[in-house]
Formats: sequence, C-alpha cells, structure tokens
Amino acid sequence: MSYQGIIHRYKQFLPISEKTPIVTLNEGNTPLIYSSYLSKIIGNGYRVYLKFEGVNPTGSFKDRGMTVAISKALEEKATAVMCASTGNTSASAAAYAAKAGLCCFVLIPNGHIALGKLSQAMIHGAEVLAVEGNFDDALKLVREITSEYPITLVNSLNPYRIEGQKTGSFEICDELNQAPDFHAIPVGNAGNITAYWKGYQEYFSHGKINFLPKMLGFQAEGAAPIVRGYPIANPQTIATAIRIGNPASWEQAEKARNESGGLIEMVSDQEIISAYQQLASKDGIFAEPASCASVAGIIKLSLQGYFKKNKPKKESPTIVCVLTGHGLKDPDCALQTIGKPKVVVAEKKAILKEIGY
Ligand code: F0G
Repeated sequence: MSYQGIIHRYKQFLPISEKTPIVTLNEGNTPLIYSSYLSKIIGNGYRVYLKFEGVNPTGSFKDRGMTVAISKALEEKATAVMCASTGNTSASAAAYAAKAGLCCFVLIPNGHIALGKLSQAMIHGAEVLAVEGNFDDALKLVREITSEYPITLVNSLNPYRIEGQKTGSFEICDELNQAPDFHAIPVGNAGNITAYWKGYQEYFSHGKINFLPKMLGFQAEGAAPIVRGYPIANPQTIATAIRIGNPASWEQAEKARNESGGLIEMVSDQEIISAYQQLASKDGIFAEPASCASVAGIIKLSLQGYFKKNKPKKESPTIVCVLTGHGLKDPDCALQTIGKPKVVVAEKKAILKEIGY
C-alpha cells in the first residue's frame, strides 16, 4: 500500500479508533537530510541531520498535528474549528478543515504574518480575521470564544495536535535506528518541543530506542520569554512564526529541557538570517526564518564549545535540527535579505558581460 499519512503509519501510538474518520493529506514521511556543511562547522565528529518539515502538504510541521486534531473533531461531530496563528497553523487548519468540510475561523496578528501563509488560509476558504494585537492577544480570544461556543480549538492546546506532532520523533528514530544525541528545535508557543519530547519518551518506554536526546530549544532574542523567565508584552523578531511573548506550553517546554538535560537559549535575528542564508546557499534547503533558529542555535552553541564539552562517548554523535517550515512561505524575507535580480537588455552580449564571459 502506498504511503497514507502519519495516522495510518503510527496508529498504535495515537488516540485513533475504528470509528475515527481519518482526514489526511498524506502528511509526514519528511526527509532527514544529512548536512556535510553543518557537520563540518560543528566538527568533533558530529553528524548533523536536517528534518525538513517544509515539505509537508501545507509546507510546515503543523500538518502532523492537524490531521489528528481535525479527524478527532470530525469524530466528535464538530462543525467548526478555530485557531490563533502566526500563519502556519492557520494554513494547515484551513486546508484540513476544507477537506473535512468544516468551517474554519482564524485570528492572525494584523500585519505580522508572512504572505504565503495568509494566501493559504484564504484560498482554503477559512474566515480570516486580522486582529489589532499580537499572537498572544489572539490566542486569548480564541480560548475564550471556543470555551463559550461550540467551536473546536485547534491550537496546540488541543492535545490531539501534540499527539500528531510527536510522530516527527518517531520518524527520526525509525530512520536513524536510534535517537539522536541532540535535538535542536525552534520554540514559539512551545507545542512542538513538547510533542517531540513526548514522542521520544514513548519510543523509549516501548524499547524502540535505548537513550533519550538532549532537547535544545531556541527562541528569537526579541521573543524569548522562556529564556528571560518572564512574558514579553511586545515580542519582536523577523521570524514572525515565533513572534510569541507568552507561550501556551511554557511549563512543558521547561520540563522537556530539564528532563532531557538540554537547554533553551536565544538567537538574534542576525544569527537567524545568517543560518537562513547558509542553509539555502550551502545545503540547497530553503527553510523559513523561524525554522533556521534551530540551525542558528547549534552554530552558536558550537562557537561556545558546547558540543565539544558535552560530546557523548561514541564515534559519531548525531544532532537533528528540525526545519519547521518552507522558505516559500515568506518570499518577502528572502528578497529583503538577498536583493532583487538585475535587469538587463535582451541581448547576448549584455548577458555574457554580466556573467563574466
Ligand atoms: N517554526 C514555525 C515555522 C512555526 O510556524 C512555529 C509556530 C514554530 C516554529 C514554533 O512552534 O509554537 O510549537 O513552539 N507557529 C505557530 C503558528 C505559532 O501559529 O503557526 P511551537
């Protein structure tokens, strides 16, 4: 049978029964790509892999959680779903709701969502409202509305989202035949670090892996409430996907960090953009800026000697960086970073001159 998505593949680990109508776009099964470039930068014998979640059907990791959340919503006879979003959740919710025939309501922070994501939510037919406030304000409203009206919340506070997203760790372990030694991941609302840690723990308790990775979470400097230890009223970062000042799964993220012996650190916008460009120009991978916080994070830690100091006693320790969303989500950022193409006259001579022949 051909591949049919994460519910089909990992049913035994998911809250799915015979009665659950499965809504899938064949999400998951994303590539784990070896990066010789980053392995060289980190050095000390490490092997660095990139879990490229940008190739999911709507271009981000959210699809893993959304297939479960929307399938369960349908099973529970919901007619409408709602989320607050910095963009990717809304794109995914809108697509899966469209397939399920459910109404989808979306609240986004006005003016702070990448164009690709907005166009996805709109084309899939969601009712999109741009709130004059940030993500945290929008999520507060969604929590209130969904607790008062018969609308299912599909943010990662919905436990089915976490269940689906934990399959990312299963895939990594299935592919490596073991857990990675370090798992690097961007942190926004902190659902995904919670989900990956849950996935690793479940595989460990089922004997599928015999050690657990250290979880390395990275926030953007201007939106780093967990690192600073207090909520940020007015978070700012170029990585709009993680422009969040008061993460819903704050405690769970700290738990993942503490239980795994890892850390949650911050990276500057400049470090994020540098990682973004390096990934694109050296590894051929176009990931959205927020995704690159994981790569910026390991480069920063490596400069501080972290990986040397914490090297496991084995030949080739592994680091997996999750690249959470596709670069095409935010084309404006790419062009602002790198510039626009030069315009030339339509003549061979002029072109050859430009390309140096
Ligand atoms: N990377 C990308 C591309 C994201 O879209 C998000 C979150 C994260 C990382 C952080 O994941 O919130 O689970 O810690 N995006 C949410 C959204 C908030 O609305 O699309 P997290």
